[in-house]
Amino acid sequence: MRQFTNYSDFVRPDGVHGSVYTDPDIFQDELQRIYAREWVYVGHVTEVPNPGDFKRSTIGTAPIILCRDTNGSVQVLFNRCRHRAATVCQEPCGNTKKFRCEYHGWTYDLDGKLTGIPFEEAYDNLDKTEFSLTKPTAIDTYRGFVFACMGKPKISLLENLGGPTMEQIDYFCDLSPEGEILVQAGTVKLVYQGSWKLQMENSIDGYHPNFTHQSYFKTISRMTGVKLDIFNGSSIASVRALGNGNAHIDTAAYNLVPQRKEGRLKALKKTPWGKKYYDDMVEAYGKERAEKVLVVGGTHMNVFPNLVVLGQQVRTIRPIAFNRTEVELAPTLLKGVPDEINTMRIRQFEQFYSPQGGGIHDDVEMFNRVQEGLACTMEPWLLFRRGLHREEKLSDGTLRGQVTDETPQRAMWRHWLEVMEQNVD
Ligand code: FES
Ligand SMILES: [Fe+2]
Repeated sequence: MRQFTNYSDFVRPDGVHGSVYTDPDIFQDELQRIYAREWVYVGHVTEVPNPGDFKRSTIGTAPIILCRDTNGSVQVLFNRCRHRAATVCQEPCGNTKKFRCEYHGWTYDLDGKLTGIPFEEAYDNLDKTEFSLTKPTAIDTYRGFVFACMGKPKISLLENLGGPTMEQIDYFCDLSPEGEILVQAGTVKLVYQGSWKLQMENSIDGYHPNFTHQSYFKTISRMTGVKLDIFNGSSIASVRALGNGNAHIDTAAYNLVPQRKEGRLKALKKTPWGKKYYDDMVEAYGKERAEKVLVVGGTHMNVFPNLVVLGQQVRTIRPIAFNRTEVELAPTLLKGVPDEINTMRIRQFEQFYSPQGGGIHDDVEMFNRVQEGLACTMEPWLLFRRGLHREEKLSDGTLRGQVTDETPQRAMWRHWLEVMEQNVD
């Protein structure tokens, strides 16, 4: 049962009340105050490269269509017929000339205009231009990542992302010598019995891997002879809160240790295709930037409320109910690299994240266990105190903690509170 009336009562500096994961009313408020009012990730432009291409997605629980119209513009349309609300697009993705509602046959073109009503004469002067598929109030992109806002945006997309977050997206995209990623290698979807916020917390949680993924790490150690120590309490890797609820696991310091850096670059340059990739990157960005991007290897970041950009993948989090969430994981390709590089990325993705992979199932099991445990309410507070005393504010305004600290989760919850308190109708 709900104990408080103000959202500030649910979030403390070092913890959150369990009902933020279990209260259906709070979930409904999140849909209204976060998903219906903030910038939300809806897909990548390369998922709909040609006119007529479309992909189904959601904003909160609202079904949408991401598509490319005949002029080549990317459109975001609500997947709800203007007649009596049936969805007009059923396929997860594909190519089409129009969207035809199968209930009574109303037809819309690729920018949402209503073009056909069967037996139209029965309507008394109905103006078809007033019955286009509805669109979000705003859409905008950064490096191909498409975001939409259902309400009037308080700030622009770029302000909402902020410099440190855009810098991490740049790291991810600059792994291509042409600066472009392609989200065109299929997707893996999973559903778990828990709150959407569990996946957001977990994506930038450097405390859990040694334990949740113990068997995977042991297997990798046996295969390679390398013991993974990046997520230890004494590791020089860090976590950073980037602003607006976004955060990342910062492995730069760890990976750029000279011996590690040289080892990685040497391994890359061992094959002709690896050498070509290295040379193309140096030509595109200069040696210093190219080597840093190659060694750091993308980023490991969440973007509030529903995007994760991690290693090779783009992950979209879709809330379904307070205790049910769908996650779509899309491995990405790099434009302008030898095929072998992209093949290697897909294999790396599969190793941890595919249905037969060794890692993602462990996380899903933990989400289910957390949601199950939340049914015990005698001591309702969850503890996010780890590293609170040693957080360090950097000159760019970001907050840094040791890699196992809960700096990212605290920042996410502070932002959640801010948005839940501000966006009251
Ligand atoms: S609900 Fe779409 S045509 Fe009737
Ligand atoms: Fe994990």
